[in-house]
Amino acid sequence: MHKIAVIPGDGTGPEVVDEALKVLHAAAKLKGFEVETSEYDFGGERYLATGKIIDDNDVQELRASDAILLGAVGHPDVAPGILEKGLLLKLRFDLDQYINLRPVKLYPGVECPLAGKGPGDIDFVVVRENTEGLYTGMGGTVYKGTANEVATQIMCNTRGGVERCIRYAFELTRKRDRKKLLTLCAKTNVLTYAHDLWWRTFNEVGEEYPDVERDYAHVDATCMWMLKNPEYFDVIVTCNMFGDIITDLGAMIQGGMGVAAGGNINPDGLSMFEPIGGSAPKYTGKGVINPIAAICATGMMLEALGQTDAADAVEQAVMSVTGSKLRSMNAGRMGYSTAEVGDLVVEALQ
Ligand code: IPM
Ligand code: MN
Repeated sequence: MHKIAVIPGDGTGPEVVDEALKVLHAAAKLKGFEVETSEYDFGGERYLATGKIIDDNDVQELRASDAILLGAVGHPDVAPGILEKGLLLKLRFDLDQYINLRPVKLYPGVECPLAGKGPGDIDFVVVRENTEGLYTGMGGTVYKGTANEVATQIMCNTRGGVERCIRYAFELTRKRDRKKLLTLCAKTNVLTYAHDLWWRTFNEVGEEYPDVERDYAHVDATCMWMLKNPEYFDVIVTCNMFGDIITDLGAMIQGGMGVAAGGNINPDGLSMFEPIGGSAPKYTGKGVINPIAAICATGMMLEALGQTDAADAVEQAVMSVTGSKLRSMNAGRMGYSTAEVGDLVVEALQ
């Protein structure tokens, strides 16, 4: 029995989560395991109504589950940063989900903005550090609002935090068993303290993985190669901020936010899976948003729960639907409604 905490969240989150759950239950039935879901109404609406986002008790309650499925965070009537920090980042930090795992894979039938690139060319994974870097909130401001205003935002890197992330990436590269190529994406030519730590740790840990080839690219060059030669990459490991940025680029080359999924992973604890696209307020309630990303997030969740067969089945079903049914991955242009796409994936499950 897998206990899943479901946080549909804001905007189109609930719509895509409905389809993800449809697929989850169908996969469980097909592969013969049980899931029990409990829903939590955290998000912008509840915050506007009650002033509460989530507190330590809520986090404590979530800990009783085996995984969390999150729809989307972000509400047009709530100032930027409040829900992001109060919900998404709080969960990532409090649950020590130190890996943000983001596969970048172009599925059959999905239109790619890169000329001449097909599904065989785009299939890599970004391992983004998820609890440190520029995201810790360290720093501050003085003389705010004056001509002398000072604002600092500290990029916090610890040896332990960097090492566990890099180690995870080496393990994943080995386990994927493709090119066995791990690229460190950083900026060692400018961030000569912070990314020197990454560089040294990468090489030291890498000594333990002689079967994995070590590779390095500055973040700006990484962006360039992701467009020019995406087939080059196997696994990329990078800091929190760079990972945030390059995975939006990654999402675009895999067909857009309608497909891109990610996992906030605590390898020894509770992980949380999400479509990375956000709450898309302008599409809310219209039944036109693409649920494939949320369905893929569910696939990643099944994998993390040890239901490898079910995870593979979900991915195969998604690929058959993108390859033979959907006209586009973009909201409103799929040729089907959100719920119909969920039904198609359920039908294709085997
Ligand atoms: C993401 C998002 C978040 C991030 C925001 C909403 C805080 O962009 O998951 O990539 O920056 O990590
Ligand atoms: Mn992002």
